[in-house]
Amino acid sequence: MTPFAERLLAWFDVHGRHDLPWQHPRTPYRVWLSEVMLQQTQVTTVIPYFARFLDRFPDIAALAAAPLDDVLALWAGLGYYARARNLHRCAQAVVAEHDGEFPRDIEAIAALPGIGRSTAGAILAQAWGDRHAILDGNVRRVLARHAAVPGWPGQPAVQKQLWREAEARLPQQRLADYTQALMDLGASICSARNPKCLLCPVAGDCQARLAGTVAQYPGAKPARARPRREAVLLLARDADGRLLLERRPPSGLWGGLWCPPLLGDGDPAAPDWLAAQALRSVAEQTLPPLTHAFTHFDYVLQPQLIATATSGSRIAEERWQWIDAEQLERLGLPAPIRKLLRSLQGTET
Ligand code: ADE
Repeated sequence: MTPFAERLLAWFDVHGRHDLPWQHPRTPYRVWLSEVMLQQTQVTTVIPYFARFLDRFPDIAALAAAPLDDVLALWAGLGYYARARNLHRCAQAVVAEHDGEFPRDIEAIAALPGIGRSTAGAILAQAWGDRHAILDGNVRRVLARHAAVPGWPGQPAVQKQLWREAEARLPQQRLADYTQALMDLGASICSARNPKCLLCPVAGDCQARLAGTVAQYPGAKPARARPRREAVLLLARDADGRLLLERRPPSGLWGGLWCPPLLGDGDPAAPDWLAAQALRSVAEQTLPPLTHAFTHFDYVLQPQLIATATSGSRIAEERWQWIDAEQLERLGLPAPIRKLLRSLQGTET
């Protein structure tokens, strides 16, 4: 099998894009302008903007000399306006620091406003044919699959590995075409969903393809751990088996519903809470915890079943009531609480 680059270039000669405006001619200014425009915008949208920019600003000196407002006005509709501001600053830096010529040096280019390492590589490879790798979103996907690089490319170690893979595949010649070919492959064949592996020139040694695991690459961003909140669910029963319920405040969690007292952070511990209501615990039992998933957090409830002596109870407020099994069915309770309470019916404390 011929090397990766050779097969990719042969495919590009037949199927790649050869008529993009920034390819004719591939000057550093034109390549840079197109790369910045293409950072977050599709080719078909960029083409007319690219033409208007070149018309108004035929070279980098013209762009640098223009008022920022003119640049922004011409950019209007492309979105991500920080790109336009950086474009203008970059033009001024090239004029001020590099005599109006793009430096032919990867570090110097990457130090300019709005240009990262991949864009710097793309400019040098396309404008001069210099031997530099690129690693934009599409290329990450191609390489993660071809080399079966596990993990999320946002992780530095994964990113580093992908740069190594990108560099290892560089040809000695035709760097401009190779760079465009890699982008075209990522956009048309090695797409995120439904990649067309049967048409792919490098499927023969694509490690993900050989393992039948293409869909697993690139690895997904790890889900952020969902926030949790914890509370004790105080299941206080009186001597008649009635349960102490509270009507929850109208707004907030389970607003307006009836629920056993929920003791969270900042609330007293169960025995202290009971003592404050002149209730005494005579037996207690901790039940398995219960997790309820709200939209933005998991609510982990630790039910504590406590038999209380009711003599002298001060529970008289409307919001607190001793409720028997029959009344329970008529009250509005949060569904997970009702389920738990039903499962407890008939049990002894
Ligand atoms: N995205 C970034 N650079 C590109 C290019 N040269 N051609 C097509 N899409 C691109």
